[in-house]
Amino acid sequence: MILPSYVKYLILILLSFYTTRAHQAPSPPNPRLQKAYFALQAWKHSIKSDPSGFTSNWYGYNVCNYTGVFCAPSLDDPHVTTVAGIDLNHANLSGSLPEDLGLLTDLALFHINSNKFCGTVPKSFYKLGLLYELDISNNRFSGNFPSVVLSLPSLKFLDIRFNQFKGEVPSKLYDLKLDAIFINNNLFDTSFPKNLGNSPVSVVVFANNNIRGCLPSSIIKMGETLHELIMTNVGLSGCLTPDIGSLKQLTVFDVSYNSLEGMLPESIGGMKSLEQLNVGNNKFSGEIPSSICSLPRLENFTYSDNYFCGEPKICLKLADRDDRQNCIRDRPAQRQVAECKAFYSRPVNCRGCSPSPPPPPPPPPPPPPPPPPPPPPPTKHCPPPPPTKHCPPPPKY
Ligand SMILES: *[C@@H]1O[C@H](CO)[C@@H](O)[C@H](O)[C@H]1NC(C)=O
Ligand SMILES: *[C@@H]1O[C@H](CO)[C@@H](O)[C@H](O)[C@H]1NC(C)=O
Ligand SMILES: *[C@@H]1O[C@H](CO)[C@@H](O)[C@H](O)[C@H]1NC(C)=O
Repeated sequence: MILPSYVKYLILILLSFYTTRAHQAPSPPNPRLQKAYFALQAWKHSIKSDPSGFTSNWYGYNVCNYTGVFCAPSLDDPHVTTVAGIDLNHANLSGSLPEDLGLLTDLALFHINSNKFCGTVPKSFYKLGLLYELDISNNRFSGNFPSVVLSLPSLKFLDIRFNQFKGEVPSKLYDLKLDAIFINNNLFDTSFPKNLGNSPVSVVVFANNNIRGCLPSSIIKMGETLHELIMTNVGLSGCLTPDIGSLKQLTVFDVSYNSLEGMLPESIGGMKSLEQLNVGNNKFSGEIPSSICSLPRLENFTYSDNYFCGEPKICLKLADRDDRQNCIRDRPAQRQVAECKAFYSRPVNCRGCSPSPPPPPPPPPPPPPPPPPPPPPPTKHCPPPPPTKHCPPPPKY
């Protein structure tokens, strides 16, 4: 059958219409999505391995259909669609983050946790003025602290844990209006800055890094805001000061696996919100203040692997409690008497938390500083002068 030419023409038009439809819009719907397209294509090309095919549909201008890419109306113009979120958690991707990602200026969430990305956070991230949550945890990022995050005005949630970042953590971090800081399980080698207490975070996790020195007294400013403070295995030494008791909102306090000494400050008994307390694996000594075990919400108190010599009866009533490997008389699984005796024959050393410079003498003789007479904190090793019932008198030890 011979079709009239106008019918052929119609078919052609229809065909091209359907082909266009079936593939993709011929051009990006708006300039912001066009920029996002360039950014995501650049990223796709820098991804070296994608065994689960997360980016296999990352082609064409319709970036809102890409796996892991989320679009939303722009904040400044509800008629304009923008890329507002990236969520590629647990995607098994390896590769790096290209500078082009700075084109995603409408991004509020960037979540790529549990992949194998390496390199660092691109400098161009300073352009992400709306970025609210940055989670790059559990990857292979390395180098120094990604300082570009310090210039993100909207950032609330920073999670860079489980990477290989090293060096100092800039003190400016604690002046930002963040809600949560997770920097644990990196290779940071830094100290607690004086301005730590400026941070309004509700959660801060330092664990498993090398953090010198002691908690600055500015933490008393965090009393109304801080809910979780986790400092397990960060190299803390010296004594806990009574300042810690000002953290009245704290529900989780973990200083386990450090070298803290002295007695637990009585003021911990004033941390009325405390639910989980872990001081295990330190060198604490003396009696446990009974006010701690009387805390109304305390569920789990771990104080094993220390040198405590006394434990109020009320502590034994806690449902979850671990007092093993101490020097508590008449309790099972304690240290050898000789070990306890040797420990108690040495003075408590709170030096780690004194304001003077750290123990190793600096090679060039420093200009003689005005001697700040450091009165040793009133921390007593066990047994304290008013002999307590639970601790043996010195000669017996
Ligand atoms: C985008 O995804 C939606 C829903 O999955 C689908 O209906 C639409 O055809 C897709 N658009 C393109 C251009 O692939
Ligand atoms: C990632 O890889 C692991 C092992 O290689 C596999 O068990 C897991 O299912 C993968 N995850 C996804 C989301 O494909
Ligand atoms: C109590 O805390 C310890 C130390 O953090 C932990 O190992 C243990 O699992 C906790 N117990 C419960 C019931 O959560």
